[in-house]
Amino acid sequence: MKIVILTGAGVSAESGLGTFRGKGGVWTKYDLTEVATPEGFARDPEKVHDFYNARRRNAAGARPNAAHYALARLQEKHAGEVVIVTQNVDALHEAAGARTIHMHGRLDRAICASCGETWPAPDMMFATDPCPKCTAKTTRPDIVWFGEIPKAMSQIAHHLETADLFAAIGTSGQVYPAAGFVTEAARSGAHTVELNLEPSDVSGLFAERMEGPATESVPAWVARLL
Ligand code: OAD
Repeated sequence: MKIVILTGAGVSAESGLGTFRGKGGVWTKYDLTEVATPEGFARDPEKVHDFYNARRRNAAGARPNAAHYALARLQEKHAGEVVIVTQNVDALHEAAGARTIHMHGRLDRAICASCGETWPAPDMMFATDPCPKCTAKTTRPDIVWFGEIPKAMSQIAHHLETADLFAAIGTSGQVYPAAGFVTEAARSGAHTVELNLEPSDVSGLFAERMEGPATESVPAWVARLL
């Protein structure tokens, strides 16, 4: 049985990293058009770097929680393939020992907007940083911004087509294309399950739902599968 899992900010919430929407969410404190779009970066690159430098610092101090560890255990012990696609830009799945597809990029990587070279991000990035390969001063966080195409989409489409079980964990279902994965997986015949603190925008599309904090629901779900 092939399992495909989509994770969102709710998985890292109990590691102390804020979610984007809802009370106290990142997008209630920052204007996403200023800090998470190519246009915002073109207007004020220092402001965008400041925002991601702060998020990188927060993420560096966070530790994986029971949900990250349970998913890593599922990937290790399950007899079939377990693909984890994450919208999260932190590296907590990897810190717990899992392999993931980072469809929205990673805070700990930098990319040159001119030549596409990528490299490990330093703790602090600045608009004047030159690319180590082509020397252009167009260095940016390797993060997918609104209006850009998420990474690895054809690989993800293949996984959704061949999934037997699809789970979405800790994601509000407000951002596409990820919010549409449940429909693609169901069309391919997969059983679908949502694990979230509360109903998401797309809850009604799932065959099964488990409500509660990820540190409780995910280990319970993994124990059932193994
Ligand atoms: P959101 O902040 O939109 O949604 C987080 C979801 O997690 C909500 O449905 C919460 O109810 C749920 N949640 C919160 N705490 C939880 C917990 N302890 N256990 C389980 N669930 C919990 O975050 P995402 O859906 O990940 O993109 O947001 C998607 C994308 O929008 C992000 O990748 C980011 C953002 O803008 C970019 O920056 C490109």
